[in-house]
Amino acid sequence: MSGAHWALAGALLAAMATAGAAPPDTLPGEQVYARCAACHALAQDRVGPHHCGLLGRRAGSVPGFAYSPAMKNSGLTWDEKTLDRFLAQPMKVVPGTAMTYDGIANPKERADLIAYLKHANETPECRALSSAPR
Ligand code: HEC
Repeated sequence: MSGAHWALAGALLAAMATAGAAPPDTLPGEQVYARCAACHALAQDRVGPHHCGLLGRRAGSVPGFAYSPAMKNSGLTWDEKTLDRFLAQPMKVVPGTAMTYDGIANPKERADLIAYLKHANETPECRALSSAPR
């Protein structure tokens, strides 16, 4: 075998080792989030409010977003528990909400989705939003 072949094999092995050690850049919840993307984005208000900074936020509190009175007055603060309940049956948990979505019945999908929403705070788009002047 020539020297060039060995060099190529070494480069391939190094590339494989790097790929194995890198943290996963997609979480399973990202696929579940595709169902929300018709109305939501992480860093922009669309039909629904943006999701950066969601965990720890009071329901209905994004400045300038036109929430329903039901959401504004729900008294909820978003954490793993309240999100899990809300996302299972949005229209039952916040009766009168403008989020006309049936919900996600599968608890594993909800858990994956909530993990994704937490992780989303560390994405560049959310970091840019939280450091932007309001
Ligand atoms: C059909 C459009 C639509 C879809 C699909 C949708 N949403 Fe919403 N969402 C809304 C609207 C509109 C609101 C504002 C509700 C209100 O004011 O009552 C909202 C509000 C929310 C809120 C409350 C945010 C806050 O600032 O208090 C959360 C959390 C949320 N959505 C999560 C999700 C997730 C997660 C998904 C995907 C599983 C999803 N939504 C799918 C339209 C949608």
